[in-house]
Amino acid sequence: MARITATVFTSHVPAIGAAMDLGKTGEPYWQPLFAGYEFSRQWMKDNKPDVIFLVYNDHATAFSLELIPTFAIGTGAKFMPADEGWGPRPVPPVIGHPQLASHIAQSVIQQDFDLTIVNQMEVDHGLTVPLSLMCGEQDPQQGAWPCPVIPFAVNVVQYPVPSGQRCFNLGRALRKAIESYDEDLNVHIWGTGGMSHQLQGARAGLINAEWDNRFLDRLIAEPAELAKMPHIDYVREAGSEGIELVMWLIARGAMADAAADATGAPPPRVAHRFYHVPASNTAVGHLILEETR
Ligand code: DHB
Ligand code: FE
Repeated sequence: MARITATVFTSHVPAIGAAMDLGKTGEPYWQPLFAGYEFSRQWMKDNKPDVIFLVYNDHATAFSLELIPTFAIGTGAKFMPADEGWGPRPVPPVIGHPQLASHIAQSVIQQDFDLTIVNQMEVDHGLTVPLSLMCGEQDPQQGAWPCPVIPFAVNVVQYPVPSGQRCFNLGRALRKAIESYDEDLNVHIWGTGGMSHQLQGARAGLINAEWDNRFLDRLIAEPAELAKMPHIDYVREAGSEGIELVMWLIARGAMADAAADATGAPPPRVAHRFYHVPASNTAVGHLILEETR
């Protein structure tokens, strides 16, 4: 049986990818940010998953106003890094896991979530920057990400966006899907995007460190309560792009103590917690939660 052993949460600022690609990670501006991921890179080596289910958002790269799936699962065998305006990032292609992805699509759709099935797409910084942060620099030709990755894109760019509650419930369905896969696989679920940031309008540059840290506290300790927060609270308190944080509730909802029938399930262990401001216009938050049974 496949099982979820850990969840990883991290922001996805494109400038972080550029800092890595251009060899600037040791500069005074970037050094404190990358220091916060040193633990995580070692942890990835010590706890190497067989598959990463990576919840992220596309930024009008694979999708556009012509086609706006709320939830899209990548069932393809390979996903190439997209050209976001400066050429594709020099990172390896993302190798998928079509068998597990198809099984998850079958199970989650039968649990009443309408997923869009995507056999072919490119992936933008929403997916590649979390991989780079957690896995470090990779040779684009010779290198490879540590394991197959199933991309799961959530629309948080064009209204209407899904609620935190729906994302949390989807995480619960995802857990059932993974636990019904008939092969011993160690699966990590990643929730990415956030934390507080606003890229446009009168409040561009907004950061709310107090709110962000409260969000991290609640994500760890009371995720089902946190899931009830309406989207307008994210936008008011964490900025228009802070809404990316609803994606973290998908990963959190997939953990043992979040299941609807979780009586007695122990809470996860906080293996790592990090918060840093600023990275470009964004507050960076990061958590690693491990299942304890
Ligand atoms: C920035 C943050 C994002 O989430 C994004 O998608 C693009 C840019 C930024 O802080 O610059
Ligand atoms: Fe973003």
